Amino acid sequence: MKCKRCRKAAAAVDLPSHHSAFCPDCFFVFFRRQVEEGIRKFSLLEPRDRVLVCVSGGKDSLVLWDILMELGYDTEGLYIDLGIEGYSDRSGEKIAAFAASRGKEPIVVDLRREGVPIPEAAKRSRKEECSVCGTVKRYFFNRVAATRGFTVVATGHNLDDEAARLLGNLLHWHGDHLERQHPLLPGEGGGLVRKVKPLWRVSEMETAAYGFLKGIDYVTEECPMSEDATSLVYKEALSLLEEKMPGTRSRLYMGFLTKKGTFLNFLTSAEINEAPPSGAEHPGTCAVCGAPTYAETCGFCRLKEKVGRGAVR
Ligand code: AMP
Ligand code: FES
Ligand code: ZN
Repeated sequence: MKCKRCRKAAAAVDLPSHHSAFCPDCFFVFFRRQVEEGIRKFSLLEPRDRVLVCVSGGKDSLVLWDILMELGYDTEGLYIDLGIEGYSDRSGEKIAAFAASRGKEPIVVDLRREGVPIPEAAKRSRKEECSVCGTVKRYFFNRVAATRGFTVVATGHNLDDEAARLLGNLLHWHGDHLERQHPLLPGEGGGLVRKVKPLWRVSEMETAAYGFLKGIDYVTEECPMSEDATSLVYKEALSLLEEKMPGTRSRLYMGFLTKKGTFLNFLTSAEINEAPPSGAEHPGTCAVCGAPTYAETCGFCRLKEKVGRGAVR
């Protein structure tokens, strides 16, 4: 099959949801336009932004960093070393190699050094690994950005991630989560930095194809702690629908974004480690570390306290 854009080269990427197939060069143009359109649509980034790109070592976040650099944004990468034996080291190595090949060095937060490596922190606080991991990551994304003068935090969530999350939120009618689900969460005074998801228009398959064709070397293994994540079930369900009815995934998510203003109030600040209590207007600051919070101490400091207490047997 020939590329549907240039009609010369052989097509390398088949995109049924766009009724298209592209050769590598034309696919790069397509992908880049999708990301630019995603940024433009909700004014996610400004040319003068200093962007902190959160990189896990997986394909999405490395592709995100790659394309934001290509689009000319001022970026640095942040890697949170979760302290998971083997997996975290392999992820860190891929990120360091990727960054070095582009004349960069990632900012690394080592959770072992911070006293909260995920496996131990989960055990000691008697919480699910993924929930502890989410609290800790959100905390450091914001803290590193706020203390180092970044104007925005970018993550590699793609269309499949967002559509699966939306399906889960709808199936359980998580109203507060639905309100906060958006590619843009504006920042606020008090150290809450804007958060954006510039890959929200591109699918996981498109991101993987882009990474592969660009020769980006990423970790392919999943985090060993997230094997039974329910989000994978929602992704599977959507993949089945997508296979039978190409375009379903993007219609679901884009329709939600278009309609959400009509039936939900758009929450006006980036998420912190707790949902704002109803009626709360602005977050205050944590009595221990100064991070934004609606409580006396922030979610991270409360977790750290629990982990510390758990250590004393
Ligand atoms: P996940 O929740 O694992 O699907 O990751 C979603 C996004 O969060 C990724 O695309 C990254 O941008 C970011 N992220 C996940 N894990 C890390 C990490 N260990 N360090 C920095 N950023 C991360
Ligand atoms: Fe968070 Fe694995 S527990 S990525
Ligand atoms: Zn705190």
